[in-house]
Formats: sequence, C-alpha cells, structure tokens
Amino acid sequence: MEAAKKLGATVIVIFGAAGDLTWRKLMPAIYNLYLDQWIPDHFAVLGTAHTDISNEAFCKHVHDGIDKFSRTGKTKKSDWTAFQKFIQYKKGDFSDPSTYTAIKTQIDKLEKAWGEPVNRIFYMAVPPTFFEDIATRIGQSGLSANKQLSRIVIEKPFGRDLDSARHLNNLLHGLFDESQIYRIDHYLGKETVQNILAFRFANAMFEPIWNRNYIDHVQITVSEQLGVENRGNYYETAGALRDMIQNHLLQLMCLIAMESPISFNADEIRNKKVDVLNALRKFKPEDVHKNAVRGQYGAGWIEGKKVKSYRQEPDVNKASNVETFAAVKFYIDNWRWQGVPFYMRTGKRMNETISVVTIQFRPVPHHSFPVETTENWQPNRLILNIQPHMGIRLRFQAKQPGLKMLLNPVDMLFDYNDAYSGGTPEAYETLLLDIFQGDATLFMRADQVEAAWEILMPVINAWEANTSPNFPNYDSGEQGPEDAEALIAKDGHNWIIMPLEKNDHGLAK
Ligand code: BG6
Repeated sequence: MEAAKKLGATVIVIFGAAGDLTWRKLMPAIYNLYLDQWIPDHFAVLGTAHTDISNEAFCKHVHDGIDKFSRTGKTKKSDWTAFQKFIQYKKGDFSDPSTYTAIKTQIDKLEKAWGEPVNRIFYMAVPPTFFEDIATRIGQSGLSANKQLSRIVIEKPFGRDLDSARHLNNLLHGLFDESQIYRIDHYLGKETVQNILAFRFANAMFEPIWNRNYIDHVQITVSEQLGVENRGNYYETAGALRDMIQNHLLQLMCLIAMESPISFNADEIRNKKVDVLNALRKFKPEDVHKNAVRGQYGAGWIEGKKVKSYRQEPDVNKASNVETFAAVKFYIDNWRWQGVPFYMRTGKRMNETISVVTIQFRPVPHHSFPVETTENWQPNRLILNIQPHMGIRLRFQAKQPGLKMLLNPVDMLFDYNDAYSGGTPEAYETLLLDIFQGDATLFMRADQVEAAWEILMPVINAWEANTSPNFPNYDSGEQGPEDAEALIAKDGHNWIIMPLEKNDHGLAK
C-alpha cells in the first residue's frame, strides 16, 4: 500500500514492555497499524523491561493482550505469524549502561541488514520515576544523536507540579531537541477530539457565532464509572486535578477556545492552543474555593454492584485526602471569551461513563411569541459527544405540529456510527502513527505542559494545605459532590444532566 511505502525503516524501543500500557494499548495499536498496512517491511519492536522472560513468552503475552483488547477482535493465525516476526524482547535493567549498548548494537545491526537509515522511537511506557534516568542514558549513549531520525515518547504524568515539570523539561532539553520529544496526551488522539478542529475550522457557519456574543457558557464533563482499580499507588500521588484536568480536560478546552490556525502545521496549532492556556485567569489563593470543588467517592452502587469507597481501595491511605472528583470554573481573558465561564468536571465512580462538551448559547434577545406558546423554550445548545458514543447534537426550537403555535426544543443529530462504516482507530493508533511519521501536532509541547501546571498550582496548593473536612463526599454511582452543583448553580446554570436515559443512538438526552 502506498501509505506503508512512505514510512521508512522504523524501530520502536519500548521501555516497560512487560507493563500494562504495552499490553493493553501499545501492542494492540501497533498490530492494528500492521493490519491497516501502515507498518513498513523494515520494522521492529524492541521490548525491554526488568521482567525475566523469554522472547517466546513475551510474544505469547502480547498475543493474549491483542486478543483481549484489540478493536479488531481476535488475531487471525496468518496475521499473527507475520506480525510476531517484528517482536524482540530482551530483559534489561534501565539503570545499566549495557542495556543501552545492547539496544544500539541491535539497531545498528538492523540498519546494516536493511540498508537504509532507521527511524528510532524510544517509548517510555514506565512509571515517571524512571523518566529521568532512561532519558539521560538514551541521550548519553548516542542512541538519539541523529535528531531527524530519533524521537523520545513520554507518557503522562509529566511532572506533578510546575517545578517538577520545568525540571523534567530542562533535563530533556539538555539531551534532545524539542522536536524530538513527544509528550502523550491520549485524549488528543481520539477521533472525536480531532473532529473538534474539523467542526470548527472546516465549516463557515459556526465560527461567526463562536464567541461571547452568542455563547453563554461552556461545560466539559469527563466522568467515569471506573474507580482507581489497581492504580492506588499512582493515584495517591495524583488525584483528579493532576490526572485529568491538567491534561485531558484543559486540552479539550484549548480546542474549543483556540483562535483559527493559519495552517495545520504542528507548531501553529500548538501556538494557538497555548494562547488559550496563557489567557486563563489566574486564581488568587483566596478565590480557589469559589472556583474549584473537590470530591472523593464513598462506597455505593455501580450498575447494580456494590463497590468500595476510595479509602478502602488497595494501596490507598485509609485517611486519604486525595480527590477523585474535581470541578473548576475558568475564565479566558481575551476578546473572544471575556465573561464566558468554562466549567469543567471529572470524576471516578460516577453514575455514567461519558465525555461530553456542551456549548450553551445565549437566549434569543427578544421573545416574539406569546408566553403560553413558549413554556418549553430553551436556548440553543450544541453537544459534542466524545465517548462512548461519538456524535454531535444541535438543539433548536421548532413548532410542534398542530393547529396551535407551540414551541418545543428538538435535536439535530450527527452520529458517527450511522455516518461512517468501518472501524475507528484507537487513540494510540493515531498517536503512534504520528510518532512514526514525525508529526507532533497532537502532542504536548513543553510550554503547554508548563502553562497548564501554572494555572492549576493555586488550586493544588490550596487543596494540599487544607485537608478536606468531609471526604468522602459523594457515593459511588452519583454525579459527584453537592458542592459541584453549587459551583455552577450560583451562576444560574446547571450541569447538563448526564444521560441516564438514552435515545436510539445512545447519545445524551
Ligand atoms: C488516563 C487517566 O489518563 O485517562 C485515567 O490516568 C483515566 O485515570 C483515563 O481513567 C481515561 O481515559 P479514557 O480514554 O478511558 O477516557
């Protein structure tokens, strides 16, 4: 296939190859890229980790993971046999220089055999405590010396506050060019998230009303039914603000609020996005409580099953002060958005798993119809459903059929499933292919990461300094704490109700 020919010889070295991310996400994504013929003939996955297993056992583990998690279902024997040839696993100690020498020898050998320059991708699928050491050793070993061909990929969390993020950025910049660093925010690889750009900038009709003159407020909700599962150790150092708002939700907001780019060049898009972060109104310490709400789940019921409270989860402190829910209200101080509140909330163990952006338009300036005809009058609303069901819904008023003039809100719906057949790539497929091709548009640049930390530091500081007196303050299976309702209610709004009831398309009512 033409596309596959375009990708030159490529080696992806995965540090942490025996871990969960590789198993659930990376290998199934690489496998699907292979099925879709994006993978070149000259390709290798060099997996390394502390786990002492043979290449054969590693392949079997990868095979199981693909069968379990791939969007294309179980592997076919012939496909797997062909794909398996790309995989080479070797136990390695991340802090031992010989690990890097062995990788270099292996890449040099492949380069010689293939007779063409090899793209080298170094993927850190490891806990953040290893980032510095691995990056330093890659840099010092000369593995990444060719700046055009070598890239380093870093998973979140990128730092745990502004200082640690700056420190990591400085360290990386001492070893690599910014153009070689790919900081992953997997939300940016989601189809519907990418579609926000298409929706806004490939259509002429929305842009003229996409501002404070027509938009009343914006809501971003990312709620999950899942709890912290087996990630208590990590989550105790993070919490909802660091885990979700600092990256995924602020990035969604940037896509909604950014100015139009003059091109789809990676830096142009990222410049426009970072402008939004830089324009966010800074919280004074004394204002944090007016603009940010935290919550922690107690025991409760999810889909008819009893679930534990956060404090009872494995590896979680029994008196933990870590938030599993966060809601924040932001203002963007620029011409387009002055005075328009952006509300965001995210939480674990909520009643519904859904990610949705709601653009609430202003009411009409004058009601021409008699009051009795307009009982159900609602301002226009645009809902961008990101997951689990991808779609766009525009609510407007219509005359109810009949001899009387009665107005009702109705919805116009775009449903991805109806509009397109064929599988939707997983976020990691999109992102890995972009890394292979050297396109950084969907990745976080150093300044974006730092700007996002900077805006949240007053909230982080306030929450760490003061233990929450009422944790746990929402039951599992609820919509978060009452304070989150108050945050938005005091401005005369309410969170757009999450879809307990679904229509035929499974989209939010
Ligand atoms: C991750 C967070 O970045 O995103 C998790 O660390 C969260 O806590 C996950 O569950 C949500 O991602 P998705 O794609 O399932 O919405």
